[in-house]
Amino acid sequence: MIDLHCHLLPGIDDGPKDMDAALALAAQAVSDGVTHSVLTPHIHHGRWDNSIPGICQAVHSFRSALSDSQIPLTVAFAGEVRVGAEILTMLPRDEIPFLGVWGSKKVMLLEMPHSHILPGTDKIVRWLLRNNVMPLIAHPERNKSVMRNSDNLNFLIELGCLFQVTSGALVGQFGESAKTCAEVLLKKGVVTVLASDAHHVKRRPVNLSCGFEAAKKIVGLKLAQQLVYDNPLKIAGSIFSSASSVALIK
Ligand SMILES: [Fe+2]
Repeated sequence: MIDLHCHLLPGIDDGPKDMDAALALAAQAVSDGVTHSVLTPHIHHGRWDNSIPGICQAVHSFRSALSDSQIPLTVAFAGEVRVGAEILTMLPRDEIPFLGVWGSKKVMLLEMPHSHILPGTDKIVRWLLRNNVMPLIAHPERNKSVMRNSDNLNFLIELGCLFQVTSGALVGQFGESAKTCAEVLLKKGVVTVLASDAHHVKRRPVNLSCGFEAAKKIVGLKLAQQLVYDNPLKIAGSIFSSASSVALIK
C-alpha cells in the first residue's frame, strides 16, 4: 500500500518527537503493509511554519536513519497545507511541496479547519484550479460541518476536488460521527484515497490495512485497492520515481 498522508518526520510538527519515535512509526507502517509513504508535515502559517528546505533536510536525516535501521520503507515528501490566504503568495514563490500529479494538474494536500469550513474556501480552490493545482482535501470526514451534513462538501465535489479519508475514521478512531461520515463519502463514490494521517504509534498509528478492510466491506475489493494503491500511485508515482526519492529498499 502507498500512504499519501502521514506525519513520520521527527520534531517538525505534532508527529513524532524524536528519531526513535519516528523509526517506530516507520516500522509500524511496514508491518501494516505500507511500502511507500509520502511524509506530509503540517504547513500552517503561524503554527507550523515548515518550508521546503527544512522538510528536505529532515527527510535526508530520516532516510539515513531508515537505512541504518534497515527499515524497508520508501519515502518521499509533500506537505499538508492549511487553507488560508497565504497560499496565494506561496504558490507563485514555489513554496508548496506537491504530492504529485492528477492529469495535467499538480496535487496539493489541503487541510481545512476541523471546526468549520473557512469562508472563501471556494475562492481559494477556484484560484488553485485556475493555476493548475488540484486540491486533495485532507480528512473531510473530520470536519464538523461535513460531519453534520455531508452535503456541505458538495461545493468542493462540484469544483472537482479530490478527497482523502483517514483509514482510522472507518474503524471508529475519531468517533461515531466521523465514521458515519467517512462511510457516507465512500458510498457517494467521492473518495480518491485512504491514508493513515499517522502521528504516533499508539494514539495515531499507521493503520491503513484496517481502513482497507473496512472499505472493502463497503465498496468491494477492487475499489478498496484503488484507494490504497492505484490512486495513490497515480498521484505520487512521479515523486517516488524522481531522483530525490531513490528507493531505500535493500
Ligand atoms: Fe495530517
